[in-house]
Amino acid sequence: MSDLKRVLGEAVGAAFAAEGLSADHGRVTVSDRPDLADFQSNGALAAAKAAGRNPREIAAKVVEHLKSDPRLASIEIAGPGFVNMRLTGEALTERARQIAADPRAGAPAVEQPRRVLVDYGGPNVAKPMHVGHLRSSIIGESLKRLFRFLGDEVVGDAHFGDWGFQMGLLIVAASDENPAWARVAEQDEGEIEDLGLDVLDRLYPMAAGRAKEDKDYRDRARRATAELQSGKPGYLRLWRHFVEVSRTALKREFAALGVEFDLWKGESDADPLIPQMVEDLKAKGLLVEDQGAQIVRINREGDKRELPPLLVISSEGSAMYGTTDLATVLDRRRSFDPHLILYVVDQRQADHFEQVFRASYLVGYAEEGSLEHLGFGTMNGPDGKPFKTREGGVLKLHDLIEMAREKARQRLHEAGLGAELSPEDFEGTADKVAVAAIKFADLQNFRGTSYIFDLDRFTSFEGKTGPYLLYQSVRIKSLLRKAEGEGHAAGPIVIDEAAERELALTLDAIDAAMTEAYAKRAPNFLAEHAYRLSQSFSKFYAACPVLAAPTPQLRASLLALAQTTLRQMETVLALLGIATPERM
Ligand code: ARG
Repeated sequence: MSDLKRVLGEAVGAAFAAEGLSADHGRVTVSDRPDLADFQSNGALAAAKAAGRNPREIAAKVVEHLKSDPRLASIEIAGPGFVNMRLTGEALTERARQIAADPRAGAPAVEQPRRVLVDYGGPNVAKPMHVGHLRSSIIGESLKRLFRFLGDEVVGDAHFGDWGFQMGLLIVAASDENPAWARVAEQDEGEIEDLGLDVLDRLYPMAAGRAKEDKDYRDRARRATAELQSGKPGYLRLWRHFVEVSRTALKREFAALGVEFDLWKGESDADPLIPQMVEDLKAKGLLVEDQGAQIVRINREGDKRELPPLLVISSEGSAMYGTTDLATVLDRRRSFDPHLILYVVDQRQADHFEQVFRASYLVGYAEEGSLEHLGFGTMNGPDGKPFKTREGGVLKLHDLIEMAREKARQRLHEAGLGAELSPEDFEGTADKVAVAAIKFADLQNFRGTSYIFDLDRFTSFEGKTGPYLLYQSVRIKSLLRKAEGEGHAAGPIVIDEAAERELALTLDAIDAAMTEAYAKRAPNFLAEHAYRLSQSFSKFYAACPVLAAPTPQLRASLLALAQTTLRQMETVLALLGIATPERM
């Protein structure tokens, strides 16, 4: 099944080819003047330039070829050589019926499924998640769902930060705090008691702050990190406890966001592969000694600026962030052998990934180009700088979700839903509204763009917001419930009125939206489509009163359009990680 845009593009391409011109000029776009045309081709201009001919003359030839195409109600030249096309009601009817009958609501599928690993979320032991992790989770979850939906075999991995310097810091901090924990650490004796999340939350920032000022403290933590990594039993036991406590809490937070990982592996899981990796690097002559450390130089000819080498083993003998990332590429190759790994991580880590990728290609762990860093911008405060709490600290994910929920409750009360919904449904809906608000606000921007956090605007039921889309979906649901209650069923679609035409064309555009989101690894194209769909539906609903339709046939057709719109809307929203409530 193919979308109208593509089918038409092929026909226009064939017309160019018949004139001895490249079929590539045939690409059509949705018309920017819907009052004049549905689609347009601007190819005659480029073709004329390439062939040294007159664009209007080429456009006239193309029109000649397409004039008798039964799908076209009209085809005309405009301006210097644009070709405007309008489809017949029959062509739109046929396509709308296809989409209505399609469980995937018109969505495309990849031709050659690949194995894709999405590395996202990236939380760390003991460090509370902040809004950077929020963006990674939201974007990564959406990409994982999109790739999977289009047919790839996809695994999402949280890549838990559980093996670096912060672990050494925690061991030192815990040992100083409580002699019983110190005994576990040093002698591997006794039990670990009363060391919960609250303790970790307190110890970590304290230790991190102290390490910045106090060199001795920092050195102790470095040594502890190295000793942990070389397997000191008491350190390992304490470490396992930290990991467990953190993971349980983090999983709860992710669940609140509707984010679920297939794999919850950590940096530490790559540790056993490091000796092999070091061998591989040595065998290829890639590992060099530099001031007591082992590094890999990854510079390439033509680099515009000097990239620092990848630090593999520090002078203390520790594995670094880049070490575990490189070993993880090997681990993933052995376990899943992915065609593609997508790293959804803050743009500020671009250099790190460039180093890891180049080293992976050099040592032969991945094929050139099969590792992609999908960087994203920051969520900023009103001052344009990364968002801070009123106290000046980083906003914790947990607090952000709570804030959004509170705001959502307030909005629902304003809309008079406090009395209408049972307390349970009210909470469930507030939850969905909060998640939709946060996610849509994030995903409507291209991921590389930074945006300003404005909870008031994000949670509004009007404008380009998540709650607005939920509201539109709920409107359709209640229309369908009402129709069912009155005994009306959906029937064959017939496209006739302008508002129906526009809705059918928007439904058709799902193919292009998903194809683009997939190619650019950019969910904002899905978000944009969801918004356009809700707008087209709104116009349609205003122009075509469904339940009051003059004939049963028309009502059945309008109901089918409404049903199809809802299915497509829920399909797209689900790929954004947004679920719709029944009432709001
Ligand atoms: N834990 C890291 C952080 O908080 C993100 C991990 C990203 N993934 C990776 N393979 N390095 O910054």
